[in-house]
Amino acid sequence: MCGIVGFIGKSNALHFVIPALYRLEYRGYDSAGISVIHNGRVFVAKKKGKISALTTYLSEVNFPSYANLGIGHTRWATHGEPSDYNAHPHTDSTGEISVIHNGIIENFLQIKNQLKHHSFVSETDTEVIPHLIEEEMKKGKDPETAFLDALEKIEGSYAIVMITSKDPNKIFCARKRSPLVVGIIDGVGYIVSSDIPSLVTFTKKVIPLDDDEVAIVSFDDVKFLKNRQRIYKQPIEIKWDIQEAEKGGYRHFMLKEIMEQPHVVEDTMHEILSVWDEIVVPKYSKILITACGTSFHAGAVGRIWFESIARKEVDIEYASELRYKDKDFQDSLIISISQSGETADTLEAVRIAKEKGAKVVGLVNVLGSSLSREADLVIHTNAGPEIGVAATKTFSAQLTALLLLALKLAGFQKSHKIVDELRRIPEKIDRFLSKNNVQDLAEEVATFKNALYLGRWISYPVAEEGALKLKEISYIHAEAYPSGEMKHGPIALISQDMLSVFVMPYDRIFKKTFSNLQEVIARKGKVISVITQGYENLLPAEVIKISIPQTDDLLSPFVSVIPLQLLSYHTAVYLGHDVDQPRNLAKSVTVE
Ligand code: M6R
Repeated sequence: MCGIVGFIGKSNALHFVIPALYRLEYRGYDSAGISVIHNGRVFVAKKKGKISALTTYLSEVNFPSYANLGIGHTRWATHGEPSDYNAHPHTDSTGEISVIHNGIIENFLQIKNQLKHHSFVSETDTEVIPHLIEEEMKKGKDPETAFLDALEKIEGSYAIVMITSKDPNKIFCARKRSPLVVGIIDGVGYIVSSDIPSLVTFTKKVIPLDDDEVAIVSFDDVKFLKNRQRIYKQPIEIKWDIQEAEKGGYRHFMLKEIMEQPHVVEDTMHEILSVWDEIVVPKYSKILITACGTSFHAGAVGRIWFESIARKEVDIEYASELRYKDKDFQDSLIISISQSGETADTLEAVRIAKEKGAKVVGLVNVLGSSLSREADLVIHTNAGPEIGVAATKTFSAQLTALLLLALKLAGFQKSHKIVDELRRIPEKIDRFLSKNNVQDLAEEVATFKNALYLGRWISYPVAEEGALKLKEISYIHAEAYPSGEMKHGPIALISQDMLSVFVMPYDRIFKKTFSNLQEVIARKGKVISVITQGYENLLPAEVIKISIPQTDDLLSPFVSVIPLQLLSYHTAVYLGHDVDQPRNLAKSVTVE
């Protein structure tokens, strides 16, 4: 959840560390800090707030303006409130060791107890790491040995980066269940980072670390170790363009990413169809989908496709719950969906299932991420980098991949009529995006404190996604229900103070949803409905209508989700919220 970066090379480290921190800010933004080695000394600067607060602070204090080696951190607090003193980097008692960390050190209290003679200045779990390394160095060990020995005393998950004036020509890195990547900048040096998207402006050549690996990065070499033995790793090429990681004239990444959806569906479809005959799904007798958040909602749509198109019985579980279930995974196919490929709960669920005999298909947007390396079969959701914390275009890419996977499981050819309809989806999304009334609704939506999102069958997971979007960036409480469930309880909430958003394309179950809408109107509830163009007149006059293009019943989520994304976007903008970096959230949730 935190973002970490380090640079070593021929250029000024600050010119890499600060821009990379801005790129990593979507992983955490409650405090930030940097550390460099200059004239043989370790310098640290850190500040509560966003990276901009740190850069302002740097311009006010006497911090070195040039260094060939530096590290930086943007924090998403776990242990200890956001504050200057809890911000990373953390140092040892001598100030000669500086450490940044992403993850959780589970035995930090025990370590603190063992190091009673050290004085700690923060409430973080991280601070024990430089002190542990200091203890090891006091025994006469060199920094590398001290670093490796300290790692053995740490329990939990971590990506750790250390610099020390005791060996000012190296960056020491370690990974255990928290992502870390080494980027090679030819002729310049090396950059280490929490994720691949943050590196696209610097290099396309990266080497992701696997669990329990260590990288000792010097000016002209990287030494990788596993179990203290040297290993050799090959770089992979990132395919993303630099422009894809920029706002491209849009006010927010989220809006840009919403607008990109027509070509994201197209690109994902194209990529999967181009390797159609090479996709060999591992053998299985059971199928289970697992994911978190938006990816879970895409999976819930996918489940309906697997059932309707491929006639397969499919279970779905939140990844954070799956690991506690007493399931037998023998002969199971796990379909695991993740934009980042680094979500800790998803990875843990996959690992447990694999240990118990499952094969894993990973639907993943970041190639080179942990899930893409651990899955038996990878299906790439070709959405490009998604920077806005609220997932939008990756949902559409995941839908595309899941629909095609359903066709594959059904044994259909790529000439199937559903593929023909899928080919028409980008134009339909485009048509909606270029002309709609959603922005006009923001002011009214912003007056509500609570909202229900309602839909049946394939529109229910879309309603769940709509409710999640409203919650996470508008901070308006929203819950989704299958609309038929409303009369079993939630209907008690209906009044003029409750907004109900009905997702009701004109499909095979429209009439049932229509009855539920009438029940809300009869109780004076405010209703917005997402309805197929041409059928608006079926609805009572007091209902606010958002018209979406007609498509096949099974494909409606591609078009019905778009107005819900826009509704939350425009409402959040109207309310003056930070759309791309909503409070308390981070893009990649790499802690369990
Ligand atoms: O990277 P992942 O797809 O594994 O992330 C899963 C969720 O954390 C993510 O979808 C989250 O719910 C989004 N912020 C929703 O907009």
